[in-house]
Amino acid sequence: MGSIAGPDAALFTAVEDWPPEDVIFGNSLVMVAIRQNLQETANANIPVLLEGQSGTGKEVLAKVIHRRSPWGCGPFVKVNCPAIPGTLLESELFGYETGALAGACGSRPGPVQPAHRGTLFLDEIAELDRALQAKLLQLLQDGQFCRIGAQEEKRLEVRVVCATNRQLQHETGVGAFRQDLFYRINIVTMQLPPLRERRGDIPLLTNYFLETYSKKYGSEVPPLSNRLIGILQRHHWPGNIRELENLIKRYVILGSEADLLSSLQSADQNYLNPEIPRDGVFPLKKVVRKAAKQLERKIILGTLETNRWNRKMTARALSISYAALLYKMREAGVPAIRGPRAGQPVAALDDGMN
Ligand SMILES: Nc1ncnc2c1ncn2[C@@H]1O[C@H](COP(=O)(O)OP(=O)(O)OP(=O)(O)O)[C@@H](O)[C@H]1O
Ligand SMILES: [Mg+2]
Repeated sequence: MGSIAGPDAALFTAVEDWPPEDVIFGNSLVMVAIRQNLQETANANIPVLLEGQSGTGKEVLAKVIHRRSPWGCGPFVKVNCPAIPGTLLESELFGYETGALAGACGSRPGPVQPAHRGTLFLDEIAELDRALQAKLLQLLQDGQFCRIGAQEEKRLEVRVVCATNRQLQHETGVGAFRQDLFYRINIVTMQLPPLRERRGDIPLLTNYFLETYSKKYGSEVPPLSNRLIGILQRHHWPGNIRELENLIKRYVILGSEADLLSSLQSADQNYLNPEIPRDGVFPLKKVVRKAAKQLERKIILGTLETNRWNRKMTARALSISYAALLYKMREAGVPAIRGPRAGQPVAALDDGMN
């Protein structure tokens, strides 16, 4: 079972190696627009909702908002909503007093209290248990919360930033998310674009990752050729910036442009450059259908890789149901688990759905 950071764990995310803001926002219109409104939003203690596909930088942006806010030197506390079973979440989130829970020794503050005068980052908010949604609403309404077993409520000042890779308005429409909470947390909403919608920023991001990981791993790799940068700009990037980052990390470690090329090019070439016979028939419908299937397979594989083969998270990232993902994986001949690579054990399924 996953868990949110408890009081013993590293609750506060240090201001670690930050990408400079010029890199974070790049030059694409949509990111420049987000940057323009950022300071006003950060100054006001209002909830912010960050929407975007997996790997688009929601957590990065949450930290930028925190750093720029008046409580920027205070704690930044991340709560990973789906990692906690609904029954436990209340005690995990709000803490408990001695004797309040069977089997629990002593009291525990939960992460909400240490976020006082700082930022509480609620990641994957769409997965928050409905009972907890009511508690959160109360916290947002009057800044008060109550630990399980506590006699009195504690007053808290926290800046709440929520993130989701779903369309929260849609979740509200189908009854999966409380409407009143939705209106509370989406006072300001920022939509992070997929990487393929900000292709112009790919060279900037690539150079940043190259420099960062070359320094980190003490390795000197040559800069990428213009040809490869062009290929990176045409790639679909289902895993967004995280996928790009991982790819460059691999390049820095292996130092092989050929390795990058082969992993990026092979599938693209298959479906984008089908062999057209000089004579004979070329059944357009059939070829296009085959190309679409190849593309789907590639996207599923890339997204599985990005989500460390967690199928539940992959289905979420692709906005399809878990059952639909399993069906598509079977249909496309994608193995249920990652196959062994050189020196790597077979990855265990970690989506808890078996
Ligand atoms: N704008 C950016 N500039 C530089 N690096 C970035 C940027 N956005 C994301 N990254 C890097 O990409 C990775 C994924 O970012 P992040 O965790 O913020 O994405 P996310 O949207 O929260 O993804 P998920 O929904 O999967 O949690 C991180 O390693 C982060 O450092
Ligand atoms: Mg995240």
